[in-house]
Amino acid sequence: MAMIAYKCPRYRVTVVDINPRRIAEWNSDHLPIYEPGLEEIVKAARGRNLFFSTEVEKGIKESEIIFVSVNTPTKTFGAGAGMAADLQYWDKTARQIRKYSNSNKIIVEKSTLPVKTAEAMKRILTSEDNGIRFDVLSNPEFLAEGTAIRDLENPDRVLIGSSQTPSGLKARDVLVEIYANWVSRERIIISNIWSSELSKLVANAFLAQRISSINAISALCEKAEADITEVAYAVGMDRRIGNKFLNASVGFGGSCFKKDILNLVYLCRHYDLKEVADYWEAVVRINDYQKERFMLNMLNVMFNTLANKRICLFGFAFKADTGDTRESPANFVAKRLVEEKARVVITDPKALKNAAEDLEGVGGEISYVEDPYEASAGCSAIAVMTEWEIYAGLDFERIYRSMAKPAFIFDGRNILDHEKLYGIGFNVFPIGKPGLTHF
Ligand code: UDX
Repeated sequence: MAMIAYKCPRYRVTVVDINPRRIAEWNSDHLPIYEPGLEEIVKAARGRNLFFSTEVEKGIKESEIIFVSVNTPTKTFGAGAGMAADLQYWDKTARQIRKYSNSNKIIVEKSTLPVKTAEAMKRILTSEDNGIRFDVLSNPEFLAEGTAIRDLENPDRVLIGSSQTPSGLKARDVLVEIYANWVSRERIIISNIWSSELSKLVANAFLAQRISSINAISALCEKAEADITEVAYAVGMDRRIGNKFLNASVGFGGSCFKKDILNLVYLCRHYDLKEVADYWEAVVRINDYQKERFMLNMLNVMFNTLANKRICLFGFAFKADTGDTRESPANFVAKRLVEEKARVVITDPKALKNAAEDLEGVGGEISYVEDPYEASAGCSAIAVMTEWEIYAGLDFERIYRSMAKPAFIFDGRNILDHEKLYGIGFNVFPIGKPGLTHF
């Protein structure tokens, strides 16, 4: 919404949230999320045509277009627990919109939702005949965290799904006009509403599938003494395949991939498409396998015991350039290390606060240290969990001197210079290539 306000001074954008603390943060000098470039555009538009408020009722009444961006986490209870989307916030929002509206509205689904929720939204909105017309559009967001501003400013595509009725098409054109302020027309694509909803789930499933595919092959490389970087390079040179999203890693994280794939799986099961559901579910299973494999390898090469050993996690965010730790592989690895009675030291330039919240109540010995040199001192091992650029540039001779021996590095992101580390004295274990050991 900040980007829309920034690019379209003619529109007045109000962001409402029921959480007063969050809204206060959005109105302050310390925004509640870290995203490169976000602060600049918020500061440019805030107070001009971008406003943050807790007055939900007023926001609904005054607006002609309402973007619904409430969270739709995986359901943790009842039917579909662990798989289906939890739609309670979304349902509540639809009812609030109906209650407070006193003029026609265009409702834009921004949250990633299971297919056909727009229809449910329309039903809730029109279940009281109050003479108000609601047109529901689907406009999924494809931005990735860490590159959000760049993705919004220069998107591969903007997708708008609408019903094919005259008023649905008219509503769609209103939204097209907004994006056309800065996105070229050929990148604004239109579809029916279900295609739009489904495309978002499928795009994420395909991206995650690439990572699971390369991660599955990384396990094979380690056994067969092939090198995953070389394999990925050779495979990615095929233009039909392409070279993006082929970095083997300790596993993908983030708020979207797992949730959206499970949603897709649930949807397939609902339509009795067992084979299709199993196929996509395997993408998540390989990811769990990869995280577990990483952890078991640490245990195995460190002489089958981690008890009382200090182990430093380099990074806790689910990827670089964000403080977001949702579904981060680091979370999984940290918990498993605590189970092995290791003493865990976590360092991260942006995510330490979230890490501490995530691991609250986990027990064991966990400490949070901002400086990577201080964090790794006295440790037996370093595990790289996040591909922060700063890690590749550290003085590893200094780090090596301060660590317990034998010293280990597990590079869960393949971002370090493994030969060099080996030369310094480390035992080095990358993903998908042979380990370099001194014994
Ligand atoms: C993703 C989609 O990219 C985005 O289009 C969608 O709107 C939301 O979900 P995001 O979750 O922000 O975005 O991050 P993304 O860059 O896709 O990375 C997801 C995870 O995969 C991260 O943990 C990342 O480190 C990992 N990853 C990515 C790999 O392990 N290897 C790769 O080659 C690429």
